[in-house]
Amino acid sequence: MAHAEVLAVDIGSRPAGSAEELAAADYIRAELASYGYEAGLQPFPIQVYETFRSDLDVAHASGPSQIDAAPLIVSASGTETGQLVSAGLGYPDDFPVEANGNIVLIERGEIEFSSKVANAENAGAVAAVIYNNEGGPFDGRLSETPGIPVVSIAREDGESLLDLMASETLTATVEVEINIVDGESQNVVARPADGACRIVVGGHYDSVPAGPGANDNGSGTAVVVELARTLAANGGGDVCFALFGAEELGLIGSIAYVAALSPDELSSIEAMLNFDMLAVGSGWPMSGSTSLVRLAGEVADGLDIPFDISTSEPGGSDHAPFIEADIPALILNCFCDPNYHTADDSLEFLDRQRFAEAGALGLGLIEALLAA
Ligand code: BES
Ligand code: ZN
Repeated sequence: MAHAEVLAVDIGSRPAGSAEELAAADYIRAELASYGYEAGLQPFPIQVYETFRSDLDVAHASGPSQIDAAPLIVSASGTETGQLVSAGLGYPDDFPVEANGNIVLIERGEIEFSSKVANAENAGAVAAVIYNNEGGPFDGRLSETPGIPVVSIAREDGESLLDLMASETLTATVEVEINIVDGESQNVVARPADGACRIVVGGHYDSVPAGPGANDNGSGTAVVVELARTLAANGGGDVCFALFGAEELGLIGSIAYVAALSPDELSSIEAMLNFDMLAVGSGWPMSGSTSLVRLAGEVADGLDIPFDISTSEPGGSDHAPFIEADIPALILNCFCDPNYHTADDSLEFLDRQRFAEAGALGLGLIEALLAA
């Protein structure tokens, strides 16, 4: 809990490439070094998006209004004015002829943002506004930069625009100015001073910009650091630790870590355990490589901790690049945080009992793997 407090309260939000992300890396590295590990930073390049402007202005009978709008990452930059035209969920058939040369209002859901935007461009739209399919605003990502500016707005704003559009013609202006700049992030890597890496225990320590990332992933980082401390205090073992940066930009840190492994290291790592978002909710769904899921079930049984073998895809996280590289990997958590990626992902919601269970499961798994 103390590590999570440093990360989520003292440091706060830790977006990839920020000074706060680096401050968190320095804290983690110093902790791991103080337990006797050889601990260092592994830097890698990233691209950071800087938003200078993201506006949606609507002119209607009762006067102009400005609506809070966020650019999708990574929208085209530009300023476009046109009639606001409703285009359903953004399927090709949802676009009326009036979409041509105008701005389309699309509901989030069912198909990917990139498909909605490609369909909007095909219909001739000059900009797209996507409103949330649940209450509040959202941050979205496109697989590549489209030819038109795209912004997201809250469901409430989308619905009031639709109400107005039922009785009058609305003229909207979408203005986006976004810049991609080169930046740097880093992993924190630690190994026993005189040992090898049979197991990699890891998790990401960066957060989304929206909030302090207490559960995502101050929680997993804290458990990894405590596992390192506990193992060192009990004579150690061939276990290495990796805290990844820039996970929230697309697993950049764990991809860089795996890419930097030598063929010898690749073949000597028997398992990767990923701790991500574990201190909120109840239950322990386990997913990943079959052999590790089975072993984790045995460990949980031995500790009397209820678990589920999860067949659903876990959220994308840092175990994936290891599995890609044929290293068995496992993630344990419950996919159930109501404050996921929001400003409310804060320390007060972290549950001590879940920290205790995650630590016990982690330690049990490490012991079982080292004994095999
Ligand atoms: N911590 C999440 C992944 C996650 C979600 C794990 C729910 C367990 C339960 C991670 O930080 C995240 O948000 N991942 C993204 C994908 C990533 C490649 C940007 C996601 O799942 O959408
Ligand atoms: Zn996460």
